Amino acid sequence: MSSETMESKQQRPLGVLAALPQELGDLVDAMRAEGGLRTVTVGRRDYHVGTVHRVPCVVTLARIGKVAAAATASALIHVFDVEAIVFTGVAGGVGSHVRVGDVVVANALLQHDLDASPLFPRYEVPLLGVTHFAADLALADELAAACERFVADEGAALAEQFRLNGARVHRGLVISGDRFVSSSEEVGALRAALPEALAVEMEGAAIAQVCYEHDVPCAIVRTISDTADDHASASFTSFLTDIAHAYSSGILRRFLEARAGA
Ligand code: ADE
Repeated sequence: MSSETMESKQQRPLGVLAALPQELGDLVDAMRAEGGLRTVTVGRRDYHVGTVHRVPCVVTLARIGKVAAAATASALIHVFDVEAIVFTGVAGGVGSHVRVGDVVVANALLQHDLDASPLFPRYEVPLLGVTHFAADLALADELAAACERFVADEGAALAEQFRLNGARVHRGLVISGDRFVSSSEEVGALRAALPEALAVEMEGAAIAQVCYEHDVPCAIVRTISDTADDHASASFTSFLTDIAHAYSSGILRRFLEARAGA
């Protein structure tokens, strides 16, 4: 067998990323414990290559915002040849029934701050002709199933420990923009403009656009850290410090273990 054929038989890795370390959970430690990792630095980011919960992965931090997310997704695709991308992290709740401690798995993503009107319709990515980027349905289903198992196993204990109102899993539209949304007025305006939006964050739609342009499947999961209102920054900070890690570790472990067993 030629080396080219042997190489093509190797399983392509999964790209797994978050904006901030607290949002990635224990993934890098799990990779280190499972047989070590190789760290490659590209564009001022460290990409950790190895196996987590028996799945070959490239794990990294995008940092905050759409440009950072797009650059990281691009490197995952071009330098590491990932077969798919999974993004994990926190978000502000926008849907009226979405509460702190809930989890949202994106079915589709849109950039709420993109406005090239009147040249192009509001929210449309100019010259691509697209407003909504679909998540990969099979991957999003796997992720949502992992979230349901996590909530069933650990939701009640987390709710009691952190005084949350329980934890529910939602599927739907996630909107992204280069703004931390932190006033009742602004989240109200987003709700009015995009009534189907469940959650707002700062990276997902950029990842989804890059994946769409390269035909790479992607899925995005977000735990609700705040409700994007006047209390958002305090709620975000304490959720990120105290809770986000437990959600990401628990969801990703179940997601990866199921993939390894598939
Ligand atoms: N990520 C978490 N909370 C957010 C908010 N309120 N706005 C934007 N991104 C967020």
